[in-house]
Amino acid sequence: MRAYTPQTITDAVIEQMSTTPDPRMKEVMEAAVRHLHAFAREVNLTPAEWIKGIEFMTKVGQACTPARQEFILLSDTMGLSALVNIMHDKTKVEEATSASLLGPFFRESTPKFESGAQIAKKTDGAEVAMYGRITNAQGAPIPGAQVTVWQTAADGRYDIQNGIEEIDCRGIFNADDKGNYLIRTVRPLGYFIPLDGPVGQMVMSQKRHGMRPAHIHFLISAPSYRELVTALYLAGDAHLDDDVVFGASADLVAHVKEGDPACPIKGLPSIHFDFSLARESEADRRAGRVGADPAAVTASNGKETKPYGAPPPEMVAAAAEPKKSGILSGLFRGR
Ligand code: BEZ
Ligand code: FE
Repeated sequence: MRAYTPQTITDAVIEQMSTTPDPRMKEVMEAAVRHLHAFAREVNLTPAEWIKGIEFMTKVGQACTPARQEFILLSDTMGLSALVNIMHDKTKVEEATSASLLGPFFRESTPKFESGAQIAKKTDGAEVAMYGRITNAQGAPIPGAQVTVWQTAADGRYDIQNGIEEIDCRGIFNADDKGNYLIRTVRPLGYFIPLDGPVGQMVMSQKRHGMRPAHIHFLISAPSYRELVTALYLAGDAHLDDDVVFGASADLVAHVKEGDPACPIKGLPSIHFDFSLARESEADRRAGRVGADPAAVTASNGKETKPYGAPPPEMVAAAAEPKKSGILSGLFRGR
């Protein structure tokens, strides 16, 4: 029998997991174990601290519903979503508009609008027009590109924060045959990320301000182009440089202008922003998005009180078989 030490246990775990058939899963899990163990050794994690961490993660899971993804919020506030997004963005096959966070308020069911329609149907606010072109990396228009937008209402809240059946300040548009898009909206406000759950508790206990700068989300797609998940951040916001989820970047800052003669809707303040899409690579088709509609991630509300089930019969049968390693291993060679 082995006796593990803080130094030998990591390799023992990795050795036991070495039967993982999927090579990528094996690579990711090995690295996860190595880094988790190194973290525990570095901080000399105590049992009380470890159980506190377990309690916290349990609360994060329990806070998830079809309208709320507390784990994505945790990943966002720890900069992990931004890191994965930035790394993914670097794999584009050509230069194009940079990505930003999808965030926890994206939802698949979004109404379609004609070009120039107002997306804020239920709430008031200072109206703004947004317009520009969707092009490829060489500047050629992409006719018909699909442009999905979502943002807070003028009170700084997303529709879904008022209930899953609420739909406002979001819409799907199509660029015209010259790649031009035109959207009417209201000026969004900077806002607090949801602070009423365990992640909010963490952020507040770290004495962080908990705010995102005012922004408008965009998801832009067209056949054979890499889907662009991004956002425009409004110039002048006080939190452009210390976004609580690290999503804002200088190249995505947009200015609201008065009296822009090029704006197709006269008399409204406007934002002009041209987006470019990179060609889609083979790897892009498998890469996925950093984020999702919470309803797509939360398959159940986790409220069932299932008892512990029996192990699957094939596991029981495998355990009953004589062990192939150790002192008797020679006997079973070639079975
Ligand atoms: C958002 O932009 O909607 C968002 C992103 C990350 C965390 C919270 C909100
Ligand atoms: Fe947002």
